[in-house]
Order: sequence, then C-alpha cells, then structure tokens
Amino acid sequence: MAEANTLGGTYTFPGTALTVHRMGYGAMQLSGPHIFGPPKDRAAAVAVLRRAVEAGVNHIDTSDFYGPHVTNQIIREALHPYRDGLVIVTKVGARRGEDGSWIQEHGPQFLIDSVHDNLRNLGLDVLDIVNVRGTGLMAPEEGFDVRPAVEAIAELQRRGLVKHIGVSNVSARHIADAQSIAPIVCVQNLYNVVQRADDALIDDLAKQHIPYVPFFPLGGFTPLQSDTLNSVAAGLGATPMQVALAWLLHRSPNILLIPGTSSVGHLEENLAASNLKLPADVLETLDGLTQEKSA
Ligand SMILES: NC(=O)c1ccc[n+]([C@@H]2O[C@H](COP(=O)([O-])OP(=O)(O)OC[C@H]3O[C@@H](n4cnc5c(N)ncnc54)[C@H](OP(=O)(O)O)[C@@H]3O)[C@@H](O)[C@H]2O)c1
Repeated sequence: MAEANTLGGTYTFPGTALTVHRMGYGAMQLSGPHIFGPPKDRAAAVAVLRRAVEAGVNHIDTSDFYGPHVTNQIIREALHPYRDGLVIVTKVGARRGEDGSWIQEHGPQFLIDSVHDNLRNLGLDVLDIVNVRGTGLMAPEEGFDVRPAVEAIAELQRRGLVKHIGVSNVSARHIADAQSIAPIVCVQNLYNVVQRADDALIDDLAKQHIPYVPFFPLGGFTPLQSDTLNSVAAGLGATPMQVALAWLLHRSPNILLIPGTSSVGHLEENLAASNLKLPADVLETLDGLTQEKSA
C-alpha cells in the first residue's frame, strides 16, 4: 500500500492558533502570462486550487498584486466559503502599472487600501497573515525602513482586519526592526537548493521558531536546471523538482513550502515530494550544489 502523504508534517506559526502542513501552495502562477491579466484557462486554475485543498494543503500564499486581483478572485471562486483551518497568507507593498510593471509602494494609506483589496477579492472579513514586502525584486535593499509599513499593518491588526504579520524580501536587520513594532510570524525570501544567501538567517529564525517560507523554491520563472539534480533524481526514481523540494524540507524544520504551479500534474508531483527520502550521500551531493553552474 502507498505511504500516506502527511505533506511534510505540520508547523504552528509562533504565538498563533494557525497550524499548517509544511507543504503548501503558492498561487502566483494562476494569473496570466507575467502574472498579469487572466489565465488562459481559468477552469484549470480553479481545478489546481481545489485539488490542492482536497489533498490536504492548508497554506496558500497569494497577493492582490498577482493579476492584479485575478489570483485572489480565482482563489475565492475555487475555495470560498473557506474550509476551517485553511490559512491564506497575502502580501502588500507593491502594485502593478498598466503595462504590467511592478511598482513598489509602502505609504500607510496605500497599505491600508491594499489590505482592503485583499479582503474584498478573497471574500474575507479578516486576513490570517499579511506579509509586508520590502523593496528590491530578488534581494532585500538594506536602505529600506520597514518600520512605518509594519506600523500601518499593526494598526489594522488592532482594528481586527489582520490577525498576524509577516515580512518578505527582508534582511536580518529588517526583521529585527519589524519585531520592534509587532510580533513577526513568518519570513518569505528567495531561497532554493542553488540560491542560499539566507542560510544563516534560516538557522537564526529556527531558533526563534519563526517559519522561513522560500519563494522561488523551484527557481521561479525559469525552473531549476542542473545536471546534478537530474542525475540525483534519476537515481531516486523521482523528478528534479521533487528532489529540490525534498531538500528544502530536509534543510530545516522551520521551512514551509509554497511551490507554485498552474498544472494539476505538477501539483501532484510537488505534493508527492513530501514523501521523498533523501539518503545521506544524496544530501551531501545536494549540499554542494551551489557551486555548480546551471546547465
Ligand atoms: N515574496 C515575494 O517577493 C515572492 C516572489 C515570488 C513568488 N512568491 C510566492 O512564492 C510562490 C512560489 O514561487 P513561484 O511560483 O514564483 O516559483 P517556483 O515555485 O519556484 O516555480 C514555479 C515554476 O515552476 C514550474 N513548476 C512547478 N512545479 C513543477 C514541476 N513539478 N515540474 C516542472 N515545473 C514545475 C511552474 O510552471 P507550471 O505552472 O507549468 O507548473 C512555474 O514556472 C509563488 O506562488 C508566490 O506565492 C513570493
């Protein structure tokens, strides 16, 4: 009989009543090309979300600037009324230009409006977790002061519109600054088997029991390509993407996964990675992977 998939076990966001499976789902890929406009096949997007939740996923990552609005509206269409225990995490700190450009914005009124957009498009009265996204596209910009933005969301928390606050695309200093304003329940930064700038940060957050949620766990818009990943995967009878996800689950118990996909087939493959065991020699090989040039 096939081993039951426990989706990597569970993790509770610190100081909250929110417990999720470590294997979640990132909804960004559900809008149109370049995360702008509607998807080619809306019914397929709805099907991915419904299958994820049916399979036990209870952590969905999103933002109202995906589409914009489109991804959240598809989540609502697919899953509302939401199952008990489903945790939807959104993020604020940017908007889209009419040409699809990504415009970073952190003024208090803009952030308040962004929270209301998320509430309306998701069909919620309160958001579980709002990540304040710092500036910079792939890596944090140290010059950014996260505190006023966290203060704006903390005020919405006091008003009962937001349960908990996280941060994204941030440095250790940004996190400490944010923690001087409000408890921070998760951190979402770029990290995967070949991009490991946050190694020390992950270990530090683990000591604080704060989950680290890597974005681009599969490499993002251009998924990971590596001869080593390919040969390790072939040896295990798995796919390279499954190996990449299994390595992340192994890397630290405070890592929660939100791989993104627009296909039910890829979703099933990604969820199955929770059950993939990586032997010690494979882990050693993968640990050395950052040195390899992408194929
Ligand atoms: N905080 C931030 O600044 C930030 C930035 C980026 C993303 N995020 C969040 O992080 C989540 C994950 O990031 P992401 O979706 O951009 O990147 P990702 O999970 O690293 O990779 C997604 C890409 O991999 C492909 N893919 C997924 N599963 C696959 C499989 N089993 N085999 C082959 N290809 C596969 C997808 O294509 P298919 O659709 O064809 O499967 C898509 O092109 C997003 O959904 C979003 O919620 C946050």
